[in-house]
Amino acid sequence: MLPSTSSDPVSYTARIVAAKRALEQSHPNPLFKDPYAVLLAGDEVTNLLAKWREVARRQDRPLKDVIAKRTRYIAVRTCFFDDLLGSALREPGLSQVVILGSGLDTRAFRFDWPLLTRVYEVDHPEVLNYKVRVLQNSVPACQHFLIPGDLADLQAEWVKGLLEQGFQAQSPTVWLLEGLLMYLPEPSAHALLKTLSELSSAGSVLGLDSVTGGSVAAAQSARKNDRGRVVRHWEFGCDDPKELLASYGWSAEVSQPQEVGKAHGRYPQSIPIEAEVGGHQDERGVWLVHARKTQA
Ligand SMILES: C[S@@+](CC[C@H](N)C(=O)[O-])C[C@H]1O[C@@H](n2cnc3c(N)ncnc32)[C@H](O)[C@@H]1O
Repeated sequence: MLPSTSSDPVSYTARIVAAKRALEQSHPNPLFKDPYAVLLAGDEVTNLLAKWREVARRQDRPLKDVIAKRTRYIAVRTCFFDDLLGSALREPGLSQVVILGSGLDTRAFRFDWPLLTRVYEVDHPEVLNYKVRVLQNSVPACQHFLIPGDLADLQAEWVKGLLEQGFQAQSPTVWLLEGLLMYLPEPSAHALLKTLSELSSAGSVLGLDSVTGGSVAAAQSARKNDRGRVVRHWEFGCDDPKELLASYGWSAEVSQPQEVGKAHGRYPQSIPIEAEVGGHQDERGVWLVHARKTQA
């Protein structure tokens, strides 16, 4: 089991995300179906609920509002990435997908993949091993390759694994970086974007989420009172993802989760976004980005 007190707290974040996806399955209108999330989250669902019950008691708020507020970003983000991937796969020629920092993402198992789609996942070995163990009786519906590697590595050794498993840089690729960039040191985040851009032929698609510099500052100061075990590890922020990606040859559309989530009723006035660490207050914010490679 990926322990709650993992020596690598960034890998532990994968379990928190899985737990939030598991909780989304009990929502009256779930934004996606992930039948594997409960299994992968293990006792993290119970742990989160115990913590949130205490928050609800302390703040004298309904538990359901506390759950809604603390799970909605992951629900909206998952739905955003599902939609982005679904629309990319309807395009002819996009049959190669690389999920960087895949964590406990189960798209390889739960997506309706076109025949012969190749899906590569890169993450720390202990995260990938845990997923393989828990899902050992499930069969991916794609050609599935797991590449253990360190995505902060400036030499990008993980690329060797990708190429050895048949990745074709001359074919367009769908890249998913969901909940990853903010955990990388700034030089590594830039090196990663540069590497994947060099591996992307024109027409490739990139989905990522990113937080602003203000969110990173707010998250880091949360360390002091031990608030937000996940966001405490954020390092990389970006205030203009469009400009950032343009510098690597991508044309990006940028939205905010509250815009995407409002359409699904997830950001009602009764549960405002203020005070969420990544939320839209002062200079804080989260971006959901859908980009297209414009040149080879
Ligand atoms: C917040 S989780 C998100 C996981 C997954 N994308 C999802 O949305 O469910 C971040 C993931 O990035 C991985 N990660 C962070 N830094 C990494 C690094 N330097 N090398 C490889 N994986 C890394 C973590 O192990 C973790 O699985």
